[in-house]
Formats: sequence, structure tokens, C-alpha cells
Amino acid sequence: MEYKITTKNEEETIEIAQNIESEKFPNMVICLRGDLGTGKTVFTKGIAQALGISEVITSPTFNIIKEYDGELPLYHMDVYRLDGKVDDLGLDEYYKKGGIVVIEWADMIEDYLPEERLDISIKAVDEDVRVLKITPHGEKYEEICEAVL
Ligand SMILES: Nc1ncnc2c1ncn2[C@@H]1O[C@H](COP(=O)(O)OP(=O)(O)OP(=O)(O)O)[C@@H](O)[C@H]1O
Ligand SMILES: [Mg+2]
Repeated sequence: MEYKITTKNEEETIEIAQNIESEKFPNMVICLRGDLGTGKTVFTKGIAQALGISEVITSPTFNIIKEYDGELPLYHMDVYRLDGKVDDLGLDEYYKKGGIVVIEWADMIEDYLPEERLDISIKAVDEDVRVLKITPHGEKYEEICEAVL
């Protein structure tokens, strides 16, 4: 199963992220893929809004993982600079901490992703248009997508 959604501006991408209702699904893992500047951090902002986080979301490129307090905690990761050095990050711990995990550049750490997860790849069509391809892995994520998308 795969959902394709086209957004025409940043706000529409944020809206799609909010529609996923991550606030209802502790331990949700969302894996974002897409070139530089396609909207992975914008999408994460939508997740943060759904969680009632008012803090500004910035790309955690230099710290790899940023934590935000919300209705559920948000663990925002950007693994672009990791170079495969993932072992000491303790990623598995984050997957079951009861929060929401969002990973930018998830394709960089393919072997460390949980089997059950929501994959979202973003492609830029032009300056403002993006195509989001949303692929649920596992029954739980399939049900979530069926219900909200
Ligand atoms: N439809 C759209 N959806 C999302 N962002 C859009 C859209 N149209 C234009 N944009 C712009 O694209 C940019 C996306 O930036 P963002 O930081 O989210 O990208 P990113 O994928 O996280 O990049 P990086 O790989 O550097 O972390 C923003 O400036 C945003 O305003
Ligand atoms: Mg980013």
C-alpha cells in the first residue's frame, strides 16, 4: 500500500503531518526521505504541532537528536552527518520510549530502522509543489493510514 499526496505549499505539508494524528500513537516511528530542502523539517513541524509543541523546530543536524516536550515527547533526528556511526546512539531505546520518533534522512541508516514504521519520501516538483509518498510498514501503520489519509 502506498499513498501519494501532492502539496502546493508549506502549510499543506504541515496539514498532512497533522492529519496523521501522531498524538494518539505513542512509539510511532516516522522515517523521512528526500533531497535537501524538500520539506522534511517542515513535515516535522506539523508533527510537533499535532503534539502541542510550541517550541520552534529546527533541523538537529549538529546534535543528531533533539527532544521536545509535548502531549507525547518528540524525538527529532537528522542523521545526515552520521556516516553510518549509529551504534552508540542507542536508537532502539528511542523506538520504545513512548514518544514519537521522526528521522530525517532515514535512508542513511536503513539497517537501523525498525521493521514497523511509516516511510515518507518527499520529492520537489518545483519551488512550491511537493509529492509525498507515504508507505506504512506493519499492520498498525496500515490501519493508521487507512483511517486518516
Ligand atoms: N509544498 C511544500 N512543502 C514543504 N515545504 C515547501 C513546500 N513548498 C516550498 N517549501 C519550502 O521548502 C523548504 C523545505 O525546507 P526543509 O528545511 O523542511 O527541508 P529539509 O528536507 O528538511 O532539508 P534538509 O535536508 O536540509 O534538512 C522550506 O523553505 C519550505 O518553505
Ligand atoms: Mg531538515
